Amino acid sequence: MKTVTAYAPANIALAKYWGKRDHRLNLPMNGSLSISLGCLGTTTTIVAAAHDGITLNGQPVAENSTFARRIWGFVACFVPERNEKIAIATVNTIPTAAGLASSASGFAALTRALNRFFECRLSDRELSIYARQGSGSACRSLWHGFVEWQCGTAPDGSDSYAFPLACDWPELRLAVVTVDSTQKKMSSKDGMHHTLTSSPLYPLWPQQTERDLETIRAAILARDLGALGKTAEANALMMHATMLAARPSLCYWQKETLAVLHTVSRLREDGLAVYATVDAGPNVKLLFTSADSDAIAAAFPAARQINPFVTPVTDG
Ligand code: PMV
Repeated sequence: MKTVTAYAPANIALAKYWGKRDHRLNLPMNGSLSISLGCLGTTTTIVAAAHDGITLNGQPVAENSTFARRIWGFVACFVPERNEKIAIATVNTIPTAAGLASSASGFAALTRALNRFFECRLSDRELSIYARQGSGSACRSLWHGFVEWQCGTAPDGSDSYAFPLACDWPELRLAVVTVDSTQKKMSSKDGMHHTLTSSPLYPLWPQQTERDLETIRAAILARDLGALGKTAEANALMMHATMLAARPSLCYWQKETLAVLHTVSRLREDGLAVYATVDAGPNVKLLFTSADSDAIAAAFPAARQINPFVTPVTDG
């Protein structure tokens, strides 16, 4: 029976995407740059079947659920005329308790799996453009390592896609400090729309992020953790500042989020090179190098440490 499997890692943006200039095509207001999460991601298997169906982590997904409608909408956009019925099995290796979004790795793995199953032979650029339409940050989850999503200017989105940076950094480590793993109150989609349309600080965001992206790209090439971490942390805090200034205010943090951020600055004052970033949720991700793994484990015993450059081999 015809079967294909594809894996895609989750990713964390260092220079973040927050705000769309086109809602239907998920076109961003600014470029962004991320690091993948290695073995935390999504494996998607597509098998020829008698009926269309979806399972998520082994459980059947109701046909009329929002999740199923989003997936089949995406399949219809990717393969408008299809004669074969398919069973789509999605397995997230992102532990639910880590509270990390899985839509980026989910749509990236689905894009790669559909491309192989239907033998579309699309280029990486075309795949990134499709994945972007499933979920913006999914266009960055097609690769391991550092990935840049160029903003583009074309109204049809043909120049808004991601590409991997041809460099690694084997000593770089990430840690996920889970504050709360329950579903967030407002989706990223709604949160960015609310911020863009009501925050008086929002107009400052796109240009500053483009500048941060340049600094972060240069810091990666120079393997300069200080410059990378300082800029990524400032970018994340600015994103949250635009939300806090929205009317009404939008705050994804909990008091533990702030406590973790205070601990990170205290550790830095004590000489440890550790930096934080926070996506649209309460959980904190840390950036440091392998030399400080033990010190990070001592300060955050429950945090999950990740080597982004050790990648699982699950494609087939
Ligand atoms: O791709 P979305 O719609 O889930 O939005 C992602 C938004 C952030 O995670 C906050 C930032 C980013 O660039 O990933």
